[in-house]
Amino acid sequence: MIQTAIEAAREAGKLLKHHLGRVREIREKSGQEKNLVTEVDRKSEDLIIGIIRRRHPGHAILAEESGRGGSDSEFKWIIDPLDGTTNYAHGFPVFCVSIAVERKGTVVAGVIYDPNLDELFTAEKGKGAYLNGKRMNVSRIDSLGRSLLVTGFPYTIADNPSHAIEHFIRFLRKSQAVRRMGSAAIDLAYVAAGRYEGFWEVALNPWDTAAGVLLVEEAGGRVTDFFGGPYSIYKPEVLASNGLVHRQMADTLAAAPAPL
Ligand code: IPD
Ligand code: CA
Ligand code: CA
Repeated sequence: MIQTAIEAAREAGKLLKHHLGRVREIREKSGQEKNLVTEVDRKSEDLIIGIIRRRHPGHAILAEESGRGGSDSEFKWIIDPLDGTTNYAHGFPVFCVSIAVERKGTVVAGVIYDPNLDELFTAEKGKGAYLNGKRMNVSRIDSLGRSLLVTGFPYTIADNPSHAIEHFIRFLRKSQAVRRMGSAAIDLAYVAAGRYEGFWEVALNPWDTAAGVLLVEEAGGRVTDFFGGPYSIYKPEVLASNGLVHRQMADTLAAAPAPL
């Protein structure tokens, strides 16, 4: 299955790169100006699902643009065919493909492919995490003040859900720096690769996080909800870190929101 995921992610990544800067159709999802979908999101998803269906016809699929199917299998493929659509629609080259396999509720394989840098992040449960075939580990920085953090904002950010803006301000003050790249899957892959110490976000979906969370765990990091409790890819809030700054990040998220 990991080979199928790798092949599908590479093929889809090639397609994304080929169409970059040549998007013909940008639509607003459910009438929201911030939430976009392009014809390339759909093409990428069709290509990925085609490859999976040929090899594993009975498996269930949860894919961002087309929903779910074949739900009685013990295996479920969780697919984000283009993570970073806003970047993509502007020709900004930060985006990726994310594919994970869940078995009986546990994510057992995850692949994230960034076609711009030709970086392939892979993990299988219990077998470690790899970047282009080389083992990767989370960073060893243990203080928030020396940490490079990353976050993202939901399309509903204008409503400031779960105090997202206050969290951002607080981390800006406490950390070395905070980035906002526009692809949650890349954010998680970079925590796994030791490039960021931590990542948090308030409203994500399983296709954004399934592969990335496994990467972080297999690279020696920690993933919880905002309070340090167990994380599920079906929960909206995620806190992922190298483990060493996890408590400091959870404490920051737990602090009462200061007025803006
Ligand atoms: C989005 C990206 C972004 C995050 C949003 C996601 P999409 O996914 O991961 O970084 O902040 O919450 O919805 O729509 O580009 O696949
Ligand atoms: Ca996404
Ligand atoms: Ca997407």
